[in-house]
Amino acid sequence: MAPAPEPEILAAFEAAKGFMPVDEGLALYAAAVEAGRLGLPLLEVGTYCGRSTLLLADAARAAGVAALTVDHHRGSEEQQPGWDYHDPETVDPELGVMDTLPAFRRTLHRAGLEEHVVALVGRSPQIAALWNTPLALVFVDGGHTDEHATADYEGWAPHVAEGGLLVIHDVFPDPADEFTGQAPYRVYLRALASGAFTEVSATDSLRVLRRTGPGI
Ligand SMILES: C[S@@+](CC[C@H](N)C(=O)[O-])C[C@H]1O[C@@H](n2cnc3c(N)ncnc32)[C@H](O)[C@@H]1O
Repeated sequence: MAPAPEPEILAAFEAAKGFMPVDEGLALYAAAVEAGRLGLPLLEVGTYCGRSTLLLADAARAAGVAALTVDHHRGSEEQQPGWDYHDPETVDPELGVMDTLPAFRRTLHRAGLEEHVVALVGRSPQIAALWNTPLALVFVDGGHTDEHATADYEGWAPHVAEGGLLVIHDVFPDPADEFTGQAPYRVYLRALASGAFTEVSATDSLRVLRRTGPGI
């Protein structure tokens, strides 16, 4: 049976602002628990308010590793004012721009998981360019344009250790199903075509791939 988070963590996940449905969350959690056995950090691109981070943090706690989460906290294109995914509560009233960092910190604090998470605040490609540590799992859930999804793949996938997992969210093979574009699907195809990754599971729009070879 796949590992599942404790009921209080699942409740915190469901209470947190965010976009991930429970079945995808459970698949992400199971992947994180499995990858955590490598004894290397788990990394997420796209923190938002910490909904999915909670699951990585709980798996990281169990494995005795760190969960890292990358976001500039200014929101993706589709989360800006006037767009479908905008939440006015995420706007900094003083600056009038999105800032999801306070909500993220509240989410983690309420769940008692702060000490298991390192928040990396900045643009994903800038942080990736400085990165040099192998990772047990990379979860890509950042910007959904081709520019951002491709940069996340190119920046982070090479750091997935042999046997580690690359998890991609919002993979929609059928354009009729997608809400935020098909860039994650194109990245998923590219990962498979590279020969470096082999598909492990698909849960709705969440794909789990294992690093089985070199050459990304
Ligand atoms: C779809 S949301 C993440 C949802 C989150 N994983 C959850 O489960 O609720 C995408 C996030 O990626 C962030 N983002 C988009 N492009 C980024 C970039 N180039 N660098 C860093 N963060 C980025 C946005 O600020 C936004 O918070």
